[in-house]
Amino acid sequence: MATRFEPSGPLRGSLRPPPDKSVSHRAALIAAMGEGETTIEGYLDAADTRSTLAAVAALGAEVGGADGASLATRLSLRGVGLRGAAPAEIDVGNAGTLLRLLPGWLAGQETGEWTLDGDASIRRRPVDRVATPLGLMGARLEAREQRLPPLRIEAAPLQGIAYELPVASAQVKSCLLFAGLLAEGETTVIEPLPSRDHSERMLAAAGAEIERGEGRVAIRTAARLEPGEIAVPADFSSAAFFLLAALLVPGSDVVLSGVGLNPTRTGLLTILARMGAEVEVEEEGERGGEPSGRLRIRPAQLRGTEVGGAEIPLAIDELPLVALAACFAEGETTIRDAAELRRKESDRIATVAAALTALGASVETSEDGMRVEGAGGLRGGAIESHGDHRIAMLGAIAGLASREGVEVAGMDAAAVSYPGFEADLASLSR
Ligand code: S3P
Repeated sequence: MATRFEPSGPLRGSLRPPPDKSVSHRAALIAAMGEGETTIEGYLDAADTRSTLAAVAALGAEVGGADGASLATRLSLRGVGLRGAAPAEIDVGNAGTLLRLLPGWLAGQETGEWTLDGDASIRRRPVDRVATPLGLMGARLEAREQRLPPLRIEAAPLQGIAYELPVASAQVKSCLLFAGLLAEGETTVIEPLPSRDHSERMLAAAGAEIERGEGRVAIRTAARLEPGEIAVPADFSSAAFFLLAALLVPGSDVVLSGVGLNPTRTGLLTILARMGAEVEVEEEGERGGEPSGRLRIRPAQLRGTEVGGAEIPLAIDELPLVALAACFAEGETTIRDAAELRRKESDRIATVAAALTALGASVETSEDGMRVEGAGGLRGGAIESHGDHRIAMLGAIAGLASREGVEVAGMDAAAVSYPGFEADLASLSR
């Protein structure tokens, strides 16, 4: 069934986007590794993060809503301790982050066997990026064709290593940091470029011995973790859809509150500023080691830009929106160094280009990015989400800002990170 998004009048009002998906995954996993009870304020209630809760429950953690509150606001989780994960077969659903982070913790257990598998999209997503370094640490892992799920893990003693990531990836970095908690000695991860650092912040807050230097992070064996209380800010990557909508729909004025402003996530703001956008950012302080604040967005005349290098990991999930903004700009926009986009929930170089082309844009792809010819707007038409939540939501925003509207097939994919997306969007156009 397809969902239609008509050209919209001005978007107005304020809202708090849903809790951060990356931070929620880590909160559940680190709470499960912890001793005693952890309270998570504002855990994301979406398909991906429900997969993580089901996973930690299968491993023996006790999950409950604190004070009878709903899952979305307050959660209590009794951990099994760093070395207490029970054997299990785990369905990660569509959650790539769960697929990559969890093996680090499981591989270093003293005993047990686990299998990780997921949906059709997950079965196309590489796990060799974690299996290779974990193997160097002594882990016993077996992937289909050595690189795809299902992934089988058998407990084994691990040795700390120094590992240089071939490509910046917060998922691989986090996986190795989790393994480092159980490995003998020190584990060092060297990053070619900075990527999101939620794991480092949360592990440090839970008492892990973690040391951060220029381009590297080292962690030592831990006896125990005590996360205590974890607060999850609103997801910058979800906020980004409204940010774009307010930027592109004439007459809009939108405020987004409580949004996570960790600088390893907000590369989109730098890119949009270069394109001519004026987003007001007001930091409101830090909770649980993560800065958050308020964004106010009004439309602006955009110009094309070049995006690449160190900016890519800081805006990796927002690059589809950069391509959308580029359609409304004057001049050409080029995205390069972003081959990782091909390994997300869909091949996002192909799916973004297909979607925008179907809506009237002129897009040329390359192995590691794309070139978009700005035309000052988009005609509209019909697109397919390919089961990718970010492509579905991109289509909706494109519809509001287009001349003729957009029909999105597979809009239900949005529930992976943002079940209330359509309702929240509608609340701004009333
Ligand atoms: C994530 C890291 C990113 C991102 C993904 C979530 C995370 O992947 O694209 O949506 O939570 O660590 P990589 O860092 O592996 O590129």
